Amino acid sequence: MVSDAELIALATEARDNAYAPYSKFKVGAALVASSGKVYVGCNVENASYPLTVCAERTAIGTAVAAGETEIVRIAVIADSDPPASPCGGCRQVIFEFGPDAVVVIASTAGHVHTTDIRTLLPDGFDGAALRR
Ligand code: THU
Repeated sequence: MVSDAELIALATEARDNAYAPYSKFKVGAALVASSGKVYVGCNVENASYPLTVCAERTAIGTAVAAGETEIVRIAVIADSDPPASPCGGCRQVIFEFGPDAVVVIASTAGHVHTTDIRTLLPDGFDGAALRR
């Protein structure tokens, strides 16, 4: 299994590719799927601001496109201290594929906060509610 230091390094590499000309706030993400493979993402902004996609969701979309459905661990990094926590929308999307996922929140300054999605999103909406 990839270490958190390696996962953060991969998220940092992906962050270099962030397309953030409007906010200038670059974010990188890297997740470990249940297969053990790692998928990365960065934020992709748009001139029509609400169409922006966060780094976490870019990584998750890439993983799902590769056939993955379970997130074990996800690291996110930005130039922010304390480290910037995933937005509410990303928390729900992480929860969809990793209700027990560990979330590693890092800053480019080297600070790391490790938590889990149930702490970040208590009582998240569970797709099981739709199956009746
Ligand atoms: N952003 C992320 O990539 N992930 C988050 O969890 C929070 C925000 C991005 C979206 C936008 O491009 C920039 O950060 C400023 O909001």
